[in-house]
Amino acid sequence: RPPSRSPLVTPQTMDDLLGGRRMRRNRRADWSRRLVRETTLEVDDLIWPMFLVDGTGVRQAVPSMPGVERLSVDEAVREAEYAASLSIPALALFPYTDPTLRDATGSEALNPQNLVCRACRAIKAAGLNIGLITDVALDPYTSHGHDGLMKGETILNDETVDQLCRQALNQVEAGADVIAPSDMMDGRVGAIRQSLDGEGHRDVQIMSYAAKYASAFYGPFRDAVGTSKTLVGDKRTYQMDPANTDEALREVELDIEEGADMIMVKPGMPYLDIVWRVKDAFRVPTYAYQVSGEYAMISAAAANGWLDGERAMLESLMAFKRAGADGVLTYFAPKVAELLKRGC
Ligand code: PBG
Repeated sequence: RPPSRSPLVTPQTMDDLLGGRRMRRNRRADWSRRLVRETTLEVDDLIWPMFLVDGTGVRQAVPSMPGVERLSVDEAVREAEYAASLSIPALALFPYTDPTLRDATGSEALNPQNLVCRACRAIKAAGLNIGLITDVALDPYTSHGHDGLMKGETILNDETVDQLCRQALNQVEAGADVIAPSDMMDGRVGAIRQSLDGEGHRDVQIMSYAAKYASAFYGPFRDAVGTSKTLVGDKRTYQMDPANTDEALREVELDIEEGADMIMVKPGMPYLDIVWRVKDAFRVPTYAYQVSGEYAMISAAAANGWLDGERAMLESLMAFKRAGADGVLTYFAPKVAELLKRGC
């Protein structure tokens, strides 16, 4: 057939097809795109996870998380001041515990002078308008790298919960505002709530890692807190199977019943369906953790020039908001806050 010069698609064809419905009209101008925007990302959506290390004036790079450093307490105070100046609402603190202080029961978790407690006191003393979230789990303190106490190959549930309640009290006495159990033992939210109330800490909030999956995306975090080399086996007997959704709803439901004020889904981007279902079902403050592996993926691709790091970062965070999250724990927090401040 000879090539025809007359267009296959005429304005009439398109008018017939679309009948006046043209989705692109609203997208033509920047002002219009802003006007029809359904979701916003704001600095109030950000929680900044921070790694702590012993010493003074220490900033230690974490190789698998380019741009992230372990900070000594004095440096953490300076960064907390910077975070507050950017109006980031809260920090989440994680320790790199000296290996000589790790043991089978994670006893350093109960030391009132441990890194997290010292950091809480020092940041509180600076009188900043910023919340302190502390992680409750034994893994940064145990010689085997598990979140709980072990007997043979088994992670003991009830004995661990007792230890976690003590850890939570230790953190609260140092000034933690929000207790965030990330261990996935059964009943720990209720037990921690009771312990806190029993000691008069009725106003301390609990942000529960309610739906936390046994994920490969935690790899770089384990480098940062120094558990990747020591971890014996895996965490599948307490963290969730990535194949499950209904189970996540059940976990969240139980944690809310036990007294969680806020709940979290973790990891983040591969689990946006869970974020959506959880928010839809329970309507409680819901957070997602953009975990270390997600940070590493975006950062590594950006470093190679394979994607635009800033845009990928902002887009990934917007996706959490669109899925229904009220906020995101992200290692990008200070960078994003800077961009948002400049109006990007
Ligand atoms: C420890 C804990 C982990 C993370 C937060 N708290 C790791 C794990 O469960 O092994 C992961 C965070 C991240 O990957 O950024 N209970």
